[in-house]
Amino acid sequence: MSYTRITAAEGAAMIKNNETIGLSGFTPNGVPKAIFRELSKKAIGEHEAGHPFQVGIITGASTSQSIEGDMAAANAIKFRTPFSTNRDFRNHTNMGEIDYEDMHLGHMGERLRRGFYADIDVAIIEVSDIEEGANICKAYLTSAGGIVPTIVRLAKRIILEKNTFHSPNSRFLHDVYEIEECPFRQPIPIMKVGDRIGKEYVEIDASKIVGVVECCIPEEARAFKPLDPVTEQMGHNVADFLVKDLKAGRIPSTFLPLQSGVGTTSNAVLEALGQNPHVPVFSVYTEVVQDAVIKYMQEGRIKDASCSSLTVTNETLQEVYNNIDYFKNHITIRPSEISNSPEVIRRLGVIAMNTAIECDIYGNENSSHICGSKLMNGIGGSCDYERNGYLSIFTTQSTTKGGKISAIVPMCSHVDSTEHDVDVIVTEQGVADLRGKGPLKRAQEIIENCAHPDYRPILREYLKIAGVGHEPQSMRAALAFHDTFLTKGDMRLTDFSDYLK
Ligand code: COA
Repeated sequence: MSYTRITAAEGAAMIKNNETIGLSGFTPNGVPKAIFRELSKKAIGEHEAGHPFQVGIITGASTSQSIEGDMAAANAIKFRTPFSTNRDFRNHTNMGEIDYEDMHLGHMGERLRRGFYADIDVAIIEVSDIEEGANICKAYLTSAGGIVPTIVRLAKRIILEKNTFHSPNSRFLHDVYEIEECPFRQPIPIMKVGDRIGKEYVEIDASKIVGVVECCIPEEARAFKPLDPVTEQMGHNVADFLVKDLKAGRIPSTFLPLQSGVGTTSNAVLEALGQNPHVPVFSVYTEVVQDAVIKYMQEGRIKDASCSSLTVTNETLQEVYNNIDYFKNHITIRPSEISNSPEVIRRLGVIAMNTAIECDIYGNENSSHICGSKLMNGIGGSCDYERNGYLSIFTTQSTTKGGKISAIVPMCSHVDSTEHDVDVIVTEQGVADLRGKGPLKRAQEIIENCAHPDYRPILREYLKIAGVGHEPQSMRAALAFHDTFLTKGDMRLTDFSDYLK
């Protein structure tokens, strides 16, 4: 049995206006790469000919420039969920052109199966290898798990992209496991970070496969900014805090698995933990493994890593494939429903560490919107971990844009994680430990330990004008920082008397 080989352009031609497409991948890694390069061209051609062409795109997490960036620029995305880190996508969404649902990554599989979205017309799945059975195709995934098991079960038609940039060895990293539907769901039997509970492959109904595109295209890996003294200081502040908790017995001597968000700050935190001699050898139960994890795994500082994606540079990825006998015993790639499962995160006691755009003086946190209105990226999987972790830490630089914006504000302009789910806030200035404290003590801790010195007097003044209450707020002045930035370009110019007239 051999499935029909098609070109990427033929694959793109199969996709019709108004269809919904489900994709493999999680971050730019593991997403299909060939067909979308043709699909954005097709969209432009259709629009030039005066024909409508827009599709819905549903994925495990963010994707790549050639998927959401080029499609957004071509005005070809009708609906999108659950996450994006792409500048073009962000710009077009903020112009009101795209219907974007910013959703917890761990919820996607289940929401799809419950029928909350449109039918999946086409699934496009990147694979490193295929066993072409007459009834069942065994598909071996590449560098990510994402929502593939659900997408291929629901899709009406399936196109596989067999990308030889990935070694067939990628199969040894995967643990494909699907949960039952409620109310008959059994516990997910993961007791340790490295436990394997599923299969190396995804099973696909072969009758739905309409074509296989063969290609050799590297990952469109995102480059992160290099570490600087501020991000390094934040990393050390997190590491020192965890060591203190370890010594106090609040973290067991065996340590606990860590989750770390994506980006420069997360890399800085992992670097600091890897280098800190007082942090024992640790494991990560996270959604995205970045380069620092592989480096410290090779040095013996990190024992096991469970994730939904290896979002590493192409060189690091090939190194993993080339040394698969070692890495298959230490890395497990899972579907995002499992990597981000509240049940497993709570059972293992994961320490969750994510990055905020801003935090308010009472501990509410915003990671997705600037000044209330403008999307940055989205929540990604941060809330899956923060809500269910043993300890929930948010890091943020105390100021941004040359000091004109404070990350510590009287009231968040948008809330993603609430004060009830945020245990610790860390900036380069210091650490606010919010555990066991009411709102007023939290406010003091956050202002004095985390806010930039330029903003501490204005924040103290806000507390005075906010008056009395369990969690005092001035309904007139609570968003004065943001309003002042929008009208005068610098939050330091905030004058509360303007708002209290
Ligand atoms: N107001 C305006 N802009 C702000 C801001 C604020 N309060 N805070 C940050 N920014 C801007 C920065 O200036 C920077 O802009 P630039 O790209 O023009 O330089 C940009 O946001 C990124 O901030 P940076 O400080 O470089 O941090 P980062 O790369 O770590 O990103 C988040 C921070 C919050 C945007 C990012 O971590 C995120 O998207 N988090 C939510 C999703 C998540 O947690 N995922 C993890 C699990 S999937």
